[in-house]
Amino acid sequence: MESVALDNSQVTGSQRATPDADRAVASRTHGFDNARLRKDFADQGAFLYLDDFLAPEVTAQLVASARGLLDEVNRNYLPGHKQGGSVSRHTIDRLAPFIAELYRSKELIGWLEQLSGDQLMVSPADDPHAYALYYYTRPGDHIGWHYDTSYYDGRRYTLLLGVIDESTCRLDYELHTRDDSKPDLPGSVQIPPGGLVFFDGDKLRHRISPMGENEMRVSLTFEYVTDSNMRPWKRFISNMKDAIAYFGFRQVFRQLMRRSGDAA
Ligand SMILES: [Fe+2]
Repeated sequence: MESVALDNSQVTGSQRATPDADRAVASRTHGFDNARLRKDFADQGAFLYLDDFLAPEVTAQLVASARGLLDEVNRNYLPGHKQGGSVSRHTIDRLAPFIAELYRSKELIGWLEQLSGDQLMVSPADDPHAYALYYYTRPGDHIGWHYDTSYYDGRRYTLLLGVIDESTCRLDYELHTRDDSKPDLPGSVQIPPGGLVFFDGDKLRHRISPMGENEMRVSLTFEYVTDSNMRPWKRFISNMKDAIAYFGFRQVFRQLMRRSGDAA
C-alpha cells in the first residue's frame, strides 16, 4: 500500500505553524556583517562555521522533523569508513516538506552566493544528496576523513546545519589541504542545533568523530552546485557510491528507473 503524504504537523504530532523559510532566513542574514563573513570564508579556503545561524523557529521545526523521521532512517555501514543512518530527499519530500522549502529558499541561496562568490543552483532532482538528514544514533557512528567530491562539471558546496546534538561527536577538518601556497590548518567544531558549516566539498578534508554511548546527533546537509551537468561515467560512480554508502540500492535505483522510464 502506498504511504500517504503527511504534513509537518502530523509528523510531529503538534500543531506547530510551519515557518516561512525565506522570511526566517532573512531575519538572520540581514543582521550579519556579510562582508566580514565573505572574507572569513575566502581566508579559510572556502570554509565557514557559525555557531548560531538558524532562526529559533526554524531550528525547532527541524528538530521536530528529525525526531518524527526516526522510523525512516536507512542504516549504513562501510567497514573502516562510515557507520550511521540517513533519510534522503525523497523521504523528506513526502514527510517533511519544510526542509525542501528551506533548501530552495531564495534568501538562503542568495546569502550563500554572497559568501562563495559563485552563482549557485540546487542539485538535480535525482541527486539524493541535494538535501538529506544524517543520523548518528548508535555508539561508534561516524564518518571517516573524506572530501565531498564533486562529480558535477562545476563546484559542489555543502551546507551542514546542526539539528540535534546530544553527543560528543565533532566535525574535525583540515583547511588548505589542496592549496600548496598555505600550510594545512587543522580545526574541530561541535555544531549545536542551529549552527552552520558551509564549504566547497573538494577543498575541505573532514570527518565526524565516533559517537559515544547513549548519545544522539542529527545533522541536515544541503548541496548546491555551480553546474548541474555530470558526465555519464561520473554519474555511474556517484550512483554506485550512494547506493553502497548512503541510501541503499532500492532508493537510489528506484529514482533511476523512473528517469529511464520517462526517457523511453
Ligand atoms: Fe562530508
